[in-house]
Amino acid sequence: MRIVVLVSGSGSTLQALLDAVGEQRIPAQIVAVGADQQCRGLQRAEEAGVQSFAVPPSAFADRAAWNRGLQRAVDGFAPDLVVLAGFMRILDEQFVAAFQGRIINTHPALLPSFPGAHGVRDALAHGVKITGATVHHVAPAVDAGEILAQVAVAVRPEDDEASLHERIKVAERELLVDTVARIALDRGPSAAS
Ligand code: GRF
Repeated sequence: MRIVVLVSGSGSTLQALLDAVGEQRIPAQIVAVGADQQCRGLQRAEEAGVQSFAVPPSAFADRAAWNRGLQRAVDGFAPDLVVLAGFMRILDEQFVAAFQGRIINTHPALLPSFPGAHGVRDALAHGVKITGATVHHVAPAVDAGEILAQVAVAVRPEDDEASLHERIKVAERELLVDTVARIALDRGPSAAS
């Protein structure tokens, strides 16, 4: 199974996938890592010997053109699965439709609660005692799409956004690795190709 991962930041979630593939805990290949900007995540790909590419919005006339550019770049790797791992841009309907059914995202909250770019901060501000992470199919609406897996993480009284997010990320990385492994195994013998 050919995987393309999209990142925007530090890429610790990507690193968990790279490690799992490297240790054969996921029967698949990460054929490329893409980002909307230069970031630590792309460096992690290069360090792992995986092709990387950046498609910065600044290089395109508008949002739609950028979506087309990113879509072409991703499609060029013939992915069986696209994984958004800390990718912080909104993909348009045409992009999602092109990969419908084979594009998943991980979100650091228990969807449908606290969607959007500040799920950890919003959960903390709301005073929830339990939050967590969600891996879901990507649908045109932000953070919508069929939920594939979730994990609960307790909020501690002393938590701030950073400490809570770091603790969520530990559970989230395991959740994403397990979910991607299950998708790869469900694909059957061709999984390792
Ligand atoms: C993850 O919690 C992801 O769900 C959220 O941002 C974090 C990405 O962290 N969108 P990293 O860049 O993988 O370290």
